[in-house]
Amino acid sequence: MDLRAIVVGISLFVFSIGAEGQGLSYNFYENSCPQVEAIVRAALQPIFLTDPTAPAALLRLMFHDCQVQGCDASILVDPNEKTVSSEMAAGKNFGIRKRESINILKAMVELECPQQVSCSDILVLAAREAVAASGGPEIKVPLGRRDSSVPPNYKLADSLLPSAAIGVDGMLQLFAKKGMTVEESVAIMGAHTLGVTHCLNILNRLSGLDQGGRVEGMAPMFEAFLRINCPQGSLTSNASFVLNDPTTLTFDNHYYNNVIRGHGVLGVDAEMVMDPRTALAVKRFAADQDGFFQAFSSAFVKLSSSSVLSGNQGVVRKICNALD
Ligand code: HEM
Ligand SMILES: *[C@@H]1O[C@H](CO)[C@@H](O)[C@H](O)[C@H]1NC(C)=O
Repeated sequence: MDLRAIVVGISLFVFSIGAEGQGLSYNFYENSCPQVEAIVRAALQPIFLTDPTAPAALLRLMFHDCQVQGCDASILVDPNEKTVSSEMAAGKNFGIRKRESINILKAMVELECPQQVSCSDILVLAAREAVAASGGPEIKVPLGRRDSSVPPNYKLADSLLPSAAIGVDGMLQLFAKKGMTVEESVAIMGAHTLGVTHCLNILNRLSGLDQGGRVEGMAPMFEAFLRINCPQGSLTSNASFVLNDPTTLTFDNHYYNNVIRGHGVLGVDAEMVMDPRTALAVKRFAADQDGFFQAFSSAFVKLSSSSVLSGNQGVVRKICNALD
């Protein structure tokens, strides 16, 4: 072994220690597919151009994949005779869209680097690009995730994904398990600066009134707006929706100004403003977009690195929506 081999060996060793303790690293595809990030970015451009709501869908897709046993691309697997059902059968995955676009990205990556890059890494990269393309921070993400090789489990997904009715307590517990601070937990909720909420997920909040006959923490005009757009007992509740944020296509800190004004769509939005544990961070992010971007970026890395498969665990799937 010559000296150069020894030096290379030592620097690899140093990198593997520094990488989140999860077997991920910032130079994982340096030799096997150095152009992977550029391929994903380029392949997303036509997808974002033809559907401006795709970034929101991809960001939520990453959350719902990573929240269930770590990002392992299990949410992408379609049902067949062997898997019988899919993670998409989980009620909490209602409204999940754009799974098929990860297949497109994967096909582009396979052309240049066959059997090298996992579907789970591509999914995390797509979410990262979704944030940047919407005007949000450019987040550096460590790579090296492996894909699950076992059938996805919709019951597990339903038990691990948060309910639309979750409060601050449940929200903080959820993200503490991913290693997030309270600030980072408030920051990751800022993902709701993008996208929509279907009426199905709002009706419960609109029917639970306080002693004054109001929805707690909601501005009266906004309540009236939601009641008109999402009437109780409507047959179209699964199809109709409201915007999470008036600037729904832009990744900005309007979400926090919005929730402070009582225009938050979910119950946890209103609670975050009132709870002393979270109120300060909400106010800080409403006034300081750079601070929000920074905290969101570190929260994003924690969410997407926690409990992942790496090394010899799992597989690198060839097609993202099938196990084999
Ligand atoms: C306590 C935690 C959370 C709860 C209770 C929650 C709940 C929800 C609900 C009910 C919707 C509406 C879905 C629909 O009706 O179509 C939604 C949408 C969305 N969520 Fe969350 N969420 C949480 C955390 C997150 C996180 C951590 C992210 C990303 C990092 C995220 C990203 C999104 C996005 C981008 C949308 C819009 C999706 C679209 O327009 O298709 N959420 N969320
Ligand atoms: C609406 O969606 C929910 C949750 O996925 C489902 O249980 C219900 O059957 C759907 N209702 C209609 C009318 O499709």
